[in-house]
Amino acid sequence: MEKDFDLDYMKYILKKLVNHNRYIHSINVSSMSEELGFINKFNITHCKIAGLLHDIMKDMSIEFLLNIIKKEDNSSFNLYKKEIGILHGFAGAIYVKNTFNINNNDIYNAIKYHTVGRLNMSDIEKVIFVSDSVSYDRDYKDVERLRKMAFEDINSAVKEVCISKILLLIQRNKKINFNTMELYNSF
Ligand SMILES: [Fe+2]
Ligand SMILES: [Fe+2]
Repeated sequence: MEKDFDLDYMKYILKKLVNHNRYIHSINVSSMSEELGFINKFNITHCKIAGLLHDIMKDMSIEFLLNIIKKEDNSSFNLYKKEIGILHGFAGAIYVKNTFNINNNDIYNAIKYHTVGRLNMSDIEKVIFVSDSVSYDRDYKDVERLRKMAFEDINSAVKEVCISKILLLIQRNKKINFNTMELYNSF
């Protein structure tokens, strides 16, 4: 039997750690993840939790994030320590595992890779990767199309979200993480 997860306690801690807008975003990603999990017959509880907590470390300092990652996931530390924008996922996965005593690989990896995606993502990873981009608090130009696609076919949505992330990074003159490139090259 699966253990009970205390979502109210998770929300209570999340609220203390992120700013108001980020909290609202997290609630929205959680409910979008729940919807997509339901449609696809994935584990809804895991979708909800990973969606809720994916950005829990996003308002912490870079030093704090690097510290957590260095202590618990040294190989990621060595690989990604210069990629500031993705550290909150890597540290968030560790924080969630330790703070809420959640030993679940799907939730861990969904939080860890939510910004970059990666090859061979699990169902829950796909849901969080897509939900983060198409939750109801998002309002960029293409969001309606991507949201519609997410409801129709999660794999097509993964592809489109990946492409739109890469295009945005290029426009902003930013580097593209190799996990994102590997995901793109697999389409
Ligand atoms: Fe994030
Ligand atoms: Fe997010």
